[in-house]
Amino acid sequence: MSVLQELAQKAKEQPIEKLGDIYHPIPFEEFSGLKTSSNHKAVEKKWGLIKSTLENIYGGEIKGKKVLDVGANAGFYSFNFAKMGNAVTSFEIIERYSEIAKAVVKEKNVDVDWFAEPFKADFNLPHKKYDVALLLSVYQWMAEGGPKQDYANESLRKISEVSDYLVFELGFNKGKSCIKTDKFNHYKELIRLLEENTTYTNFKLIGKTRLWGYYTRFLVICSNNPELEDAGFRKFVRGL
Ligand SMILES: C[S@@+](CC[C@H](N)C(=O)[O-])C[C@H]1O[C@@H](n2cnc3c(N)ncnc32)[C@H](O)[C@@H]1O
Repeated sequence: MSVLQELAQKAKEQPIEKLGDIYHPIPFEEFSGLKTSSNHKAVEKKWGLIKSTLENIYGGEIKGKKVLDVGANAGFYSFNFAKMGNAVTSFEIIERYSEIAKAVVKEKNVDVDWFAEPFKADFNLPHKKYDVALLLSVYQWMAEGGPKQDYANESLRKISEVSDYLVFELGFNKGKSCIKTDKFNHYKELIRLLEENTTYTNFKLIGKTRLWGYYTRFLVICSNNPELEDAGFRKFVRGL
């Protein structure tokens, strides 16, 4: 049995999640038998939205880019980007995911610098500039639902300073570590948070995700690219 098959078997015998073996898929055949706690189809849909948005931006294949994935979990997005020929930097704090991911990096020889530690604004990143950053359903965990929001905001600002594009995902008011709001229009509230805590000037909704039942999160592309802007839509939309 290979190292990766052994790690997959260990995840089956001692699941990392309560409702599945792992949180999201690991895109290598050794792990195809594992059950994910988040909705498999919704994960694929989210990846499709991210991929097609970036393909539109780059006018074709996403290749030769530098990608920063903060809160990489089991590496679904990190490894998918790496498989397409991008250089990836990943941060993840759950040790068991990092154990698996580091073994994947070694065995599959993919271009991923995997850091098994919390992202920090003063961390000496392997690259000065990134083309794309991902902060997908991580902000609320970094903020611990509120008490550590300064840390989450500081990290968000730093990520925006070093990355041309940020794909950001968040919903409000649901989940263990959720960020709470009493505002009626959650989408407007999310953009306000991004305007306050990033250096980006343009924001566009690229889709909504449902990783857990009917709970909806917004998937937003943040940049300084005026073509990727939905301020007009935000003005008129109510209670999104
Ligand atoms: C809900 S999961 C989302 C995983 C992945 N980004 C996705 O969209 O499928 C959040 C992940 O962020 C990680 N995380 C939480 N705080 C972190 C931090 N300060 N630095 C790096 N990763 C963190 C968690 O361990 C967890 O794996």
